[in-house]
Amino acid sequence: MIVAGKQGISIYTPHTHNNVKPPFVPNFLPSVTPEDIKEALKQVKYPGFSRDIVSFGLVRSAAFVDGTAKVSLHLTTSDAKIPLHVKQEVDKCLRALPGVKDTIIDIAVAPARTASAPGGNLGGNSAAPKTIKYAVAIASGKGGVGKSTFAVNLACALSQLLAAQGRPGRVGLMDCDIYGPSVPLMMGIDGRPQVEGDNLLPLENHGVKVMSMGFLVDDNTPVVWRGPMIMKTIQQFVQNVKWGELDILLVDLPPGTGDAQLSLVQTLPLDGAVLVTTPQPAATNVARKGGLMFQKVNVPLLGVAENMSYFLDPSGARHAIFGEGGGQKTADSLGTVLLGQVPLIPDIRAGGDAGKPIVVSSPESPASRIFRDIGDAILLQLSRKPMPATS
Ligand SMILES: Nc1ncnc2c1ncn2[C@@H]1O[C@H](COP(=O)(O)OP(=O)(O)OP(=O)(O)O)[C@@H](O)[C@H]1O
Ligand SMILES: [Mg+2]
Repeated sequence: MIVAGKQGISIYTPHTHNNVKPPFVPNFLPSVTPEDIKEALKQVKYPGFSRDIVSFGLVRSAAFVDGTAKVSLHLTTSDAKIPLHVKQEVDKCLRALPGVKDTIIDIAVAPARTASAPGGNLGGNSAAPKTIKYAVAIASGKGGVGKSTFAVNLACALSQLLAAQGRPGRVGLMDCDIYGPSVPLMMGIDGRPQVEGDNLLPLENHGVKVMSMGFLVDDNTPVVWRGPMIMKTIQQFVQNVKWGELDILLVDLPPGTGDAQLSLVQTLPLDGAVLVTTPQPAATNVARKGGLMFQKVNVPLLGVAENMSYFLDPSGARHAIFGEGGGQKTADSLGTVLLGQVPLIPDIRAGGDAGKPIVVSSPESPASRIFRDIGDAILLQLSRKPMPATS
């Protein structure tokens, strides 16, 4: 029996009653399932990116009927060449599958967002630097899920991706955790920022410009922060730090959905937020609340990143220590995508403690590739917005 499509269309069902012989179906006819088609389409990269169209979530359906592979795709672009190119590549890939004689490829194209679309946030503060193309918050809701680890590795991955496009040194990382800033340690930066006029100069390592309260206060000095001070710090990090020309500024937020988050959206018009969560409900429930908060203030969710998704033991076996599917569920419930799943591995922890994120120390490791794929996905989503002019 050949089955096609989600509904399971039965092309041939043998029945032996009434002495009617079933039609002859050669048993060597290859059977192609929707999963086979999706698996094959993973070879098709989105033009200009190293990530494939399946992991970008662009394939809506796949089916195989009578030798014809049918797929439908959904693209958001204003560049007419992209759907054309994708169609040709998909066609080539499907025809390479044994048993596929013909293809039907439907591509729905939505235009990229226009300048009047949301994403401007609560206050839309005009004092935000015009040299920063995109500002993206890394948020979690629950503490300790690996948000800073994720932000640091993502920043390094973005720096590598942009450098490969001839745009080095255009990634910034703003550590808004004023209670326990961990970014300086994780980025291997120890020092005081220089002052230039009214401005602070960010410190730089691994191709990323960094500003953190950790550079400004002594490690051993207890600091009692009050709400208004958080607001002031964030404002200064946005307005009085000479970031220079950046393609993307990542903002590592402290956990929660409180003062810091709201101050940030009032101070810096965010182009998007990425939610980091671990798979278990204790974390995803809070991450969802964080996601809803961003949506309420018109910050588009770029997606959910699941951290500590699985533990790979030395034999390569996978263990779902914190359960499975939480990241996808969170993404689904917020109407956004799962950007990727980062494994729980000692090298990631060690990289953070040594100031050399895994993306820098082992750029070809599977985990580093996952961070770069997530970086690609974020750049793609941002590119769907019109590029604001830089000064
Ligand atoms: N994928 C991972 N594999 C192994 N260790 C990890 C991973 N992600 C994070 N860690 C480790 O877990 C600990 C907590 O991570 P991190 O400080 O990044 O979390 P956080 O969400 O930023 O915490 P906070 O809420 O305090 O800001 C760190 O020691 C880090 O090295
Ligand atoms: Mg942190």
